[in-house]
Amino acid sequence: MSVAERPQFTSEQIEKGRVLAAAGYCAECHTPAGGAAFSGNYPIETDYGVIYGSNITPDPETGIGAWSPEAFRRAMWQGVDREGRHLFPALPYDHFTKMTAEDVDAIYAYLMTEVKPVHSVTKAAGIPFPLNQRILQAGWKMLFFKEGRYENDLSKSEEWNRGAYLVEGVTHCGACHTPRNKLGAEEASQTFAGAHIDKWIAPALTAANPSAVPWSASEFTRYLASGAGVYHGVAAGPMGPVVHAGLRELPESDLKAIGIYLGDIVGAPDSDPAQSAVVQASLAAGRPDPAYRRDQGERLYATACAACHYNAEQVLAGRPDLGINSATRLDDPTNLIHVMLDGVSAEEGTKGLVMPAFRHALSDQEIAAIAAYLRDDRSKLAPWPDLDAKVAAIRAEATQ
Ligand code: HEC
Ligand code: HEC
Ligand code: HEC
Repeated sequence: MSVAERPQFTSEQIEKGRVLAAAGYCAECHTPAGGAAFSGNYPIETDYGVIYGSNITPDPETGIGAWSPEAFRRAMWQGVDREGRHLFPALPYDHFTKMTAEDVDAIYAYLMTEVKPVHSVTKAAGIPFPLNQRILQAGWKMLFFKEGRYENDLSKSEEWNRGAYLVEGVTHCGACHTPRNKLGAEEASQTFAGAHIDKWIAPALTAANPSAVPWSASEFTRYLASGAGVYHGVAAGPMGPVVHAGLRELPESDLKAIGIYLGDIVGAPDSDPAQSAVVQASLAAGRPDPAYRRDQGERLYATACAACHYNAEQVLAGRPDLGINSATRLDDPTNLIHVMLDGVSAEEGTKGLVMPAFRHALSDQEIAAIAAYLRDDRSKLAPWPDLDAKVAAIRAEATQ
């Protein structure tokens, strides 16, 4: 289809498409480091090899400029490209299939009009034979993929359904928060049960979330709108761009709807946890006491961390209480170690708030000692094994 043959778009449609493209993080997987937006060749590591996000600029030869709206819908709904070849599920079409035609068309309108065409050939996936045979994807789809738009659950409110539509569809939270089977498909029976992703852990978004204070609708909305909860952690690592490059574009009503949907999954009522026993106990455990500084981890914590993390009477926004948050309460210390090594940039967590990196200030053993103190003394949970080795491994992988 040539440019002249493309349908006309309204400015509302284009603006809607811009917001949805942000909420679907299309740019994250389709923009190369330092390169033009959506011009492709962003490498995605999978268990099977590297796959490159395609050039989805309107360049007719190397991008999707010659695609009709129908071809674009087929890619988003069925994971099939313009020539009819199966696309790899690294493109989360298993979620995008839930989107309405109106929403998919809006993204098409945005890409075709607002994005600069860039001539750049997308590299072939570095997946070894025979897994690189796209025809095998037909079998994968038969096993794990069900095409179909989101259907309202009539027993639930309109807001709940709006939240479910956004979470299950365009924002594809499950792509990171749901564990995958050996063939890379999300485990349908374990939706949002938590998963390893990009060398981080995406915690459970169900009642199994390890935070001491259960997540509630309003706390989800606050976290997704601002990058931080008050009684929960902050959006660091791969969750940073989900909030700051993605969800923040959505109107408040949509973030509220997402909170309502997720709050219902967790099943905890909205409440003010300030006076709760859990929070009060954690604050008490963080107060200096006569036995204070009895071990190395506690001493280091007092000098390196407490100035910014100590809360006297209540947990303040921007001063996370490390005793109650999932970073110290997950079975695995990975997220806590990442944050200690590399800090929290202005683009992660609360926008503009920075936590310094301790990569060059603290040794593996010292970071391990602080983690052990937070885990054993503050969260009062079973110790994490082999902490020194874990810190060393994460330190090495981040600089690769
Ligand atoms: C998690 C990463 C990821 C996200 C997020 C993502 N994509 Fe992709 N997309 C890919 C990968 C990887 C491919 C190439 C798949 C292949 O080669 O089989 C792809 C392919 C495509 C294609 C097919 C292009 C072609 O030339 O065959 C289209 C169209 C597309 N994506 C659109 C989108 C849109 C629109 C969004 C946002 C709503 C989006 N993608 C979000 C990873 C992603
Ligand atoms: C690209 C992968 C990715 C996507 C997509 C993603 N998340 Fe996350 N999420 C993570 C990671 C990794 C963390 C841990 C971040 C940290 O500890 O700083 C996280 C943390 C969270 C937390 C905090 C959990 C806790 O106990 O501290 C919430 C809530 C959350 N995500 C909700 C969502 C929602 C809702 C969506 C979809 C709108 C979503 N996430 C999409 C990777 C992702
Ligand atoms: C200069 C102040 C400062 C220092 C020192 C500091 N932090 Fe932070 N920390 C912050 C800020 C600010 C945030 C992010 C808050 C936000 O974005 O809302 C943060 C966030 C975190 C988080 C993520 C939030 C959560 O609860 O999951 C962890 C974990 C953390 N810090 C641990 C530590 C540890 C351990 C130390 C000591 C090694 C430390 N911090 C030292 C300021 C600091």
